[in-house]
Amino acid sequence: MQLAFGGIDFGTSNSTVGVIRNGKARLVALEGEQPTLPSAVFFNFEDGHTYFGRRAIGDYTDSVEGRLMRSLKSVLGSSLANEKTRIKARLIGFTDIIGLFIGHLKARLEEDAGGPVENVVLGRPVQFVDDDAEADAKAQGELEKAAQAQGFKQIDFQFEPIAAALDYEQNVTREELALIVDMGGGTSDFSVVRVSPERAGASDRKGDILANRGIHIGGTDFDRLLSIAHVMPELGYLTPTKDHKRNLPAGYFIDLATWQRINLVYTAKAMTDLRQIRYEAERADLVSRFIHVVEHRYGHALAGLVEKAKIALTDQPSTEVRVSLPGAHFSAGITRAGLEETIAADIERVTETVKQTIADAGVDASAITAVFLTGGSTAVPLARRRILSLVPQATVIEGDMFGSVGLGLALDARRKFA
Ligand SMILES: Nc1ncnc2c1ncn2[C@@H]1O[C@H](COP(=O)(O)OP(=O)(O)OP(=O)(O)O)[C@@H](O)[C@H]1O
Ligand SMILES: [Mg+2]
Repeated sequence: MQLAFGGIDFGTSNSTVGVIRNGKARLVALEGEQPTLPSAVFFNFEDGHTYFGRRAIGDYTDSVEGRLMRSLKSVLGSSLANEKTRIKARLIGFTDIIGLFIGHLKARLEEDAGGPVENVVLGRPVQFVDDDAEADAKAQGELEKAAQAQGFKQIDFQFEPIAAALDYEQNVTREELALIVDMGGGTSDFSVVRVSPERAGASDRKGDILANRGIHIGGTDFDRLLSIAHVMPELGYLTPTKDHKRNLPAGYFIDLATWQRINLVYTAKAMTDLRQIRYEAERADLVSRFIHVVEHRYGHALAGLVEKAKIALTDQPSTEVRVSLPGAHFSAGITRAGLEETIAADIERVTETVKQTIADAGVDASAITAVFLTGGSTAVPLARRRILSLVPQATVIEGDMFGSVGLGLALDARRKFA
């Protein structure tokens, strides 16, 4: 009997599941007809159920009482991975929450397959953690354990940019030396690969993968930086204490601006600290806004507004983040230039990584004939501009922004399990 298999792209922001049906890779419908599922989990305290994806985010924004978790992938390999978080009376580990999410994807996969699926290729960024092989191995181990706990028996990993290359290769008509660019929510990954219609069927492709590099910078970092630079000052960040001896401590502002740390400000200790900070602040009025944001559990909604503003600035020169909560009315204008200044250092590190990937490949940049773009953050104009400037002669191919990796993982799973 043929083994049932699938590919899972567990993304920082969005996840997909790829399968082979009638000889072709396709994505499984994960939420209604949608092939993507936002990587979000909501523990609903009112009905005691756990929800995933758009439904999770929807419940949270309808202010149902509960706890929302996002950007869970960023926790892998970090100190948070070993921590537990309080979900009402229960303490539950972050990796167990990742397990619940993977289990949900597995259920969709099995529904699509019409039976159990125990074999899977999981995508992984080239580096979960930058320049720390031990933490990186730990991250992959945590993801593997989470998948095992959900009943997967054979678990293999593939680099996300290689999966994207496999998807791209299905449509090439001649040999290309391609730069694959996958910039997502948490990481940016690059490979230089030789692709061609003839090579696509070969079982061992090691010789065609000339280089592979990644960096732990992605769209959620841009959200964080944008929030810190343009929104947190409206909540008191970088304002002085009454005695003008120092600025207010930065920690809670950074937590509130960082997707996977938002829940850390929803503790009794944080509230006590924040009241003390407000007492000492020259601009107590601004810190009051922060306290109202926390009291209304508005942190993820605020981060969502910042992300929306970032996305709006892909197409327009300016926008604003407007908050109208009881006790916290304000708006922060942001321009495209402001965004670009805020993320410039990160984009330079990304660009440097692309340069190094091409150097690793041992080819001249001018030899690259095609650039394949996938991942939501390749839409960011500055990122695109800087990366494409390195290979001006190459043909730019727009991949499926959110689906390429999942499709490629299915192709890889076929190679490994069929
Ligand atoms: N039009 C746009 N302009 C700018 N950024 C965008 C746009 N559309 C999506 N994004 C960003 O793309 C990111 C999500 O991309 P994607 O779904 O490819 O990531 P992911 O696969 O979940 O993450 P990763 O691969 O890093 O684990 C988010 O940060 C989102 O804000
Ligand atoms: Mg991705």
